[in-house]
Amino acid sequence: MLTKKMETALNRQIELEGYASFLYLSMASWCDNEGLDGCAQFMHRQSDEERAHMLRIFHYISDVDGHAIVPAVKKPPAKFKSVQEMFKQVYTHEQKVTKSINELVALCYEVDDYGTLNFLQWYVEEQREEEALMRSILDRIKLIGDGPQNLYFIDNEIKKVNEAEMAAGAAENEAEA
Ligand code: FEO
Repeated sequence: MLTKKMETALNRQIELEGYASFLYLSMASWCDNEGLDGCAQFMHRQSDEERAHMLRIFHYISDVDGHAIVPAVKKPPAKFKSVQEMFKQVYTHEQKVTKSINELVALCYEVDDYGTLNFLQWYVEEQREEEALMRSILDRIKLIGDGPQNLYFIDNEIKKVNEAEMAAGAAENEAEA
């Protein structure tokens, strides 16, 4: 059984993961428009992942007899200054999500909710991986250079990162099956 305080906090996390899904979908659309197919594929996959993160919490709340609430759709930005700026925004959003997960973990201790603490461990690890991934992408963009003449190389690089992430995800699913 969830405390009201924990239920509210988990519903806020649903909102944050849902917004991430919409923000990354908007980024995918911008990338498509800019002819950056590799980046678009990457952002579409990230958007799907965030929806899965949102649903995982949604189902958890229902499983422990709480009430999961569908959040309002907040419109994300539709345009981005550059690929580098876009990935900087992704990194900033992921840091915000990490902070929120850490606050949820702290709340678990406050209200003695060790079931939710256990549930959140997956998110703690996921956020460590997400932040590391975004940092490595920003490092690569910095190395290649963000000028218009380098966009083709950046896009190819992100395409490779996306393929590696898809392969890792498939291996993870196989191991869980
Ligand atoms: Fe689910 Fe990347 O935050």
